Amino acid sequence: MDFDNENEFDFESRIVSSTLRSAEEDAENTLRPKKLDEYIGQTKAKENLKVFIDAARQRKETLDHVLLYGPPGLGKTTLATITANELNVNIHTTSGPAIEKQGDLVAILTNLSDGDVLFIDEIHRLPRNVEEILYPAMEDYAVDIIIGKGPSARSIRIDLPKFTLIGATTRAGQLSQPLRDRHGIILKLDLYTPDELKEIVTRSASILGYSILPEGAAEIASRSRGTPRIANRLLKRVRDFAQVSGKETIDAEVANFALTKLEIDKLGLDNLDRRMLETIIRDYNGGPVGLDALAATLGEEAITLEDVYEPYLLQIQFLKRTQRGRCVTELGYNHVHIPYPNPSGQLNFFSE
Ligand code: ADE
Repeated sequence: MDFDNENEFDFESRIVSSTLRSAEEDAENTLRPKKLDEYIGQTKAKENLKVFIDAARQRKETLDHVLLYGPPGLGKTTLATITANELNVNIHTTSGPAIEKQGDLVAILTNLSDGDVLFIDEIHRLPRNVEEILYPAMEDYAVDIIIGKGPSARSIRIDLPKFTLIGATTRAGQLSQPLRDRHGIILKLDLYTPDELKEIVTRSASILGYSILPEGAAEIASRSRGTPRIANRLLKRVRDFAQVSGKETIDAEVANFALTKLEIDKLGLDNLDRRMLETIIRDYNGGPVGLDALAATLGEEAITLEDVYEPYLLQIQFLKRTQRGRCVTELGYNHVHIPYPNPSGQLNFFSE
């Protein structure tokens, strides 16, 4: 590509599937399963998706639009790619914040071929006026564009190829009702169990060509916060420690050593998780506290706390959500070694 000549710049490639990727992203891609039967976990979502893909294939129809939602790192992009592979069609990948103008989206839509998958990550961040282009595109496979200005302006309709939109979001609640309603298939992804993560870590180690004992895989799995992306990242760091210390196999000992060096505790909590629990306990008497107040005290974004940190703390029952805000549970108090106050408000020094 000639960067001196603006006209030669491929407009679509700026927004769709950037070819410039980091080595870490490339490594993540090699670990991603390519077919549904290689995909571990998310049994409910996977089984349903398989039926819808098979049915669409049998009828030789385009798959209905799909919405995937759940916390980050659970495999929404992977499932979108697998869907395209299973349907034997191309996938075009973009994200809500990358599409700034209506024209950006029209360019992407008019470049699709029949049956293609258009994957929009973080679809809840599409600007509202861009979202409006999607409604007729999803419903009627057409876009309406305005040509000209003032009294001579007129609207023309451009027909699009039939395509499948796969939208991914960490927060289905933030999606507008019209957009949510236009997805015929809605799949929720949940945090993975330690057993599922152990299977993923074992599979990834074999792809990376490193041998791993079941206890080593279990150690990494139990400290990965229910998230394959974290499990695979930790696996790579543990492998670094194993390799440098001359070990050819990852066992529980080297996994534990490496994860302790990385300050990841036995349950996978990092410094911010612990600070979040301690702050609710010390500054807000254990809660309830609203997310915005907590975020301000911690100097973090409320959205990061809600999307990245809170789901796992809720799953392991260190936090609970009440109408009035978040509270730390007795388990949470125990984890950060602060005595849990009994119901009369007195500290219970015998709770551990
Ligand atoms: N790597 C990342 N996520 C995975 C999954 N769900 N199954 C198999 N390998 C994975």
